[in-house]
Amino acid sequence: MKVFVTRKIPNAGIDMLREKGWEVLISPHDRALTRDELIDMGRGADAVLTQLTDKIDGSVVDGWGSQLKIIANYAVGYDNLNVKEISDRGVLMSNTPDVLTETVAEHTFALMLSIARRIVESDKFSRAGKYKGWEPFLLLGNDVCYKTLGIIGLGRIGARVAHHAVRGFDMKVIYYDVRRNNEFESNFGATYKDTPDDILTEADFISIHVPLLPQTRHLISAERIKKMKPSAYLINTSRGPIVDEIALRDSLKKNIIKGAAIDVWENEPLLTPGLSDLENIIITPHTASATEETRQKMGEIAAKNIIETLEGRNPPNKIIPK
Ligand code: DGY
Repeated sequence: MKVFVTRKIPNAGIDMLREKGWEVLISPHDRALTRDELIDMGRGADAVLTQLTDKIDGSVVDGWGSQLKIIANYAVGYDNLNVKEISDRGVLMSNTPDVLTETVAEHTFALMLSIARRIVESDKFSRAGKYKGWEPFLLLGNDVCYKTLGIIGLGRIGARVAHHAVRGFDMKVIYYDVRRNNEFESNFGATYKDTPDDILTEADFISIHVPLLPQTRHLISAERIKKMKPSAYLINTSRGPIVDEIALRDSLKKNIIKGAAIDVWENEPLLTPGLSDLENIIITPHTASATEETRQKMGEIAAKNIIETLEGRNPPNKIIPK
């Protein structure tokens, strides 16, 4: 069997594949591959381990050849895969759910605390030698405790963020999702809202956890940002295009909302001009799942999905086309 890995990942997953005695080709480039490079290097592979930066559609799969059995995405999100075109060609797909839930929820909370307590600004201020002694109004932020957290998208990560909010910070949780979750409501005293707008108008902190789909692109638009409280903070660790980044920049500039913290950008790796000049936003470079432990587990899961498929069994994290 031949497995193509589109970019180096932690060794554990690669070792699992090599231990099978299979040929494992890892891209020698430490960068995202171009479409032509992807096709050339993956030609003849039985399995391809892809990154979320690889855009895979039917024509890429055709280039890889009809022996291809599985595309194992090294991410929980899989908006980089054209699920319909790939499944129409009889190729399976898998992702890496569960192993990164804690890590992304932790990063979400880190962003929430950091923007509310002005941690990045305070760090810059201190390093710049600007601290001249305690002051009553120096770098005042806002409390997180007892506030209302609005979760938009109650998957595993959204639910874990709610757990930290309720158990750790006595926050009140309201949520919107296409499906209502009674068990979650009774576990966390959470309240379901019928529309995202109900979340935006009521919450002090809004955390986005929906997948990127045609219907969620620009879910957070200029009009929707205007519905938020002027004191509210927006946190996005899902996918960048869910938030209209130009609208976010303009709203932050005009103080229509208090602040934002984003791990995902609308046009990665390009950031909307002007956004990084603002003090009321914290920006991390799509690193919410970036811990040594989690990235290793993601590699192991991707390898496991490949192994199960190439040995004729069902991959545990198969993506089901809708
Ligand atoms: C994912 O797995 O979808 C994350 O965005 C990767 O960090």
